[in-house]
Amino acid sequence: MSKTWKICCVAAAIALAFIILVMILFIPAKGPYDDTDCWNQFEDFDISSLDTVEVTGEEFKILQLTDLHYWMPHKAKATDNVVKTLVEQNQPDMIVITGDSVFGPANLVYVPHIIDLMESFEIPWAIVYGNHDSEGKADKFWMGEKYEEAEHCLYHNGPYNIGGTGNYVVNLTKDGEPFYSLVMMDSNMYMEYDGKQEYACFELGQVSWYEYMITNLQANGYDKSMMFFHIPLVEYGVAYDEWEKGGFDESTGFGEKREEECNSPCNTGMFGMIKKLGSTTHTFCGHDHVNNYSVEYDGVVLSYGLKSSSQFYHDDDMIGGTLITIDAERNVEIEHKYIEA
Ligand SMILES: [Fe+2]
Repeated sequence: MSKTWKICCVAAAIALAFIILVMILFIPAKGPYDDTDCWNQFEDFDISSLDTVEVTGEEFKILQLTDLHYWMPHKAKATDNVVKTLVEQNQPDMIVITGDSVFGPANLVYVPHIIDLMESFEIPWAIVYGNHDSEGKADKFWMGEKYEEAEHCLYHNGPYNIGGTGNYVVNLTKDGEPFYSLVMMDSNMYMEYDGKQEYACFELGQVSWYEYMITNLQANGYDKSMMFFHIPLVEYGVAYDEWEKGGFDESTGFGEKREEECNSPCNTGMFGMIKKLGSTTHTFCGHDHVNNYSVEYDGVVLSYGLKSSSQFYHDDDMIGGTLITIDAERNVEIEHKYIEA
């Protein structure tokens, strides 16, 4: 082979590798969506369209994981181990992941990784998006298709026209009777506010959809619900301040605030709707990696989950998962389970 031919071959190989790298890093992976899946508030409510999980034991244990932030290859195994240890030690009946599961261009790689990990436990699991999940190559519909295909995953894209992706409800039954509803919602990503980028809030369509779902669930015997989403409501900070003013009364809260709440500057009235309908007893979010407080405010418990990995900013002594136990009388206990990452 002549020297010139060799140089040409090497140059072609480098060019090909560069093109593949650009494709991997920058060409978006868009998933399919059904733009006819529109919510219409005047349509009849079909409870049979919602997934149901039967409570078989005396209590139902939900493990909340949040802000796994899979993106650094050398930390993936340690993150897997945190999750595996939490599941092994707490034997949950279900897992709910409240957003920022993946981060950056690597979402294309780590969404299938998370699915494999979750499916290995062979229990129902649900997931909502955070502000970071879809910042990489894969959009929410690409990830949504993968989650919807996973055997034990309860995720649904939800209605196309209310705001966000992945708004859906999972009902819990006990002896076939309504027990609790779990409302999963996409708290969206960012918005323009006063010339700056700020965190988003629920869209008005999502608040209306929540009202429609809860009102109809109540009419079908589901009188209690809890919500899972990523970005805290504005009321979290208000609740903490009141708790602090009251001397951190242990009967109404626990946990710590180590950073200012990074909520949206806007409030579209989700908490007001929660109060009006009287169904949602607890809300669980993530987002602020070093806040883990859980405080009762105006009759509703507003709770942070414990950050579940050492990827992205974190405090080493604030890593683990949050165990939510609903007993047969539907009392709810919340415990943070700490793991050394
Ligand atoms: Fe996060």
